[in-house]
Amino acid sequence: MILFKKAADITAWLLKSKTAGKKIGFIPTMGALHPGHISLIKASKKAGSISVCSIFVNPAQFNDAKDFDNYPSTIEKDIDALEKAGCDILFLPSVSEMYPAGRMGNAKNYDLGYLETVLEGEYRPGHFQGVCLVVHRLLNIIPADDLYLGQKDYQQCMVIKKLVELENINTTIHICPTLRETSGLAMSSRNMRRTEESQKQALKIFETLSYLKNNSKPGNLTALKQTAIDNLTNAGFKVDYIEIADAGNLDIINHWDGNSKLVAVAAAFLGEVRLIDNMLL
Ligand code: PAJ
Repeated sequence: MILFKKAADITAWLLKSKTAGKKIGFIPTMGALHPGHISLIKASKKAGSISVCSIFVNPAQFNDAKDFDNYPSTIEKDIDALEKAGCDILFLPSVSEMYPAGRMGNAKNYDLGYLETVLEGEYRPGHFQGVCLVVHRLLNIIPADDLYLGQKDYQQCMVIKKLVELENINTTIHICPTLRETSGLAMSSRNMRRTEESQKQALKIFETLSYLKNNSKPGNLTALKQTAIDNLTNAGFKVDYIEIADAGNLDIINHWDGNSKLVAVAAAFLGEVRLIDNMLL
C-alpha cells in the first residue's frame, strides 16, 4: 500500500494510473476502522479497481466539539487492516492540507433542500454541509470512477448522491450493506468507546428497528412509532428520533399505503455516545 499525505502527489499518481486505463474506487473514512469499513474496500477490490481509502477526521462535520475531541484514532491498526484487505492507496491528509484556506475559506452552501431539514439534518445542524465540503474536496483530489459508501449512514448516502448531482461529478455511487456484529449491533467506530455491557444495551436499537420491520402494516403508523420510542427510552436511551420514512426520498410516513418502500431510521444517545442505525422495511 502506498501512503500519500499531500493532495498534489496523490492526484498526480492517480491521474497517471487513469491514463494507463485503471479504474479508481474510493472509500472515504474517518478511521478507527472496523470490518464495516473493510467491506467497502473489498467491494472496490472485487470491481477490479485501484482501491483508495482516505482517513481524515473532518472537523467541519462535527457539530459537537466534544464528539470531535473524543473521536477514536487507531492509525497503526488501521494501516494493518488496510494492508491485509489489499487496499492499494491510503490518503492521510492533515487539516491544513484539506483546508488550505481555512475551513471558512472553502465554505460554500450546498443546496441540499429537504434532506438537510429532517432527521440527521434537523438534529445535527451544519453536519451535512461539512460532509459535502469534505467529500467535494476529496473528490477533487481523488479522481474516483466509483465511490463506495455504507448504508449504515442512510441519509449521508442520499446527501452525497445529491452533492454529486449538484456538482456534476463524474463518479458512480455504490451503497454497500451495513455490517453487523452477530448480535445485530451495527459496527461503528463509536462502539470502541463503550464497555461490553453497554454494547449489549446498544443492541436495543437493532431490536427496535426489527420490531418496526416486523410490525409495520398498511394504515396508521404513529402508535407503532411511539411504542418504539417508549421501548428505547425505557431501555435507558435518550432518543433523538425514531421514524419510518419513504426509502427513496425520506418523506416521513405516518400513514402507509402498503406500496411505497419504507426505511426505519433511529438516532439515540446511550450515555455520551450517539448511535444511528436504519433498516429497510
Ligand atoms: P465513517 O463514519 O468513518 O464511515 C466511512 C464509511 O464507512 C461510510 O460510508 C459509512 O457509511 C461506512 N460504514 C460505517 N459503518 C459501517 C458498517 N457497519 N457497515 C458498512 N459500512 C459502514 O461516514 C463517514 O466516515 C464520514 O462522514 C465521511 C463520509 C468519511 C466524510 O467525512
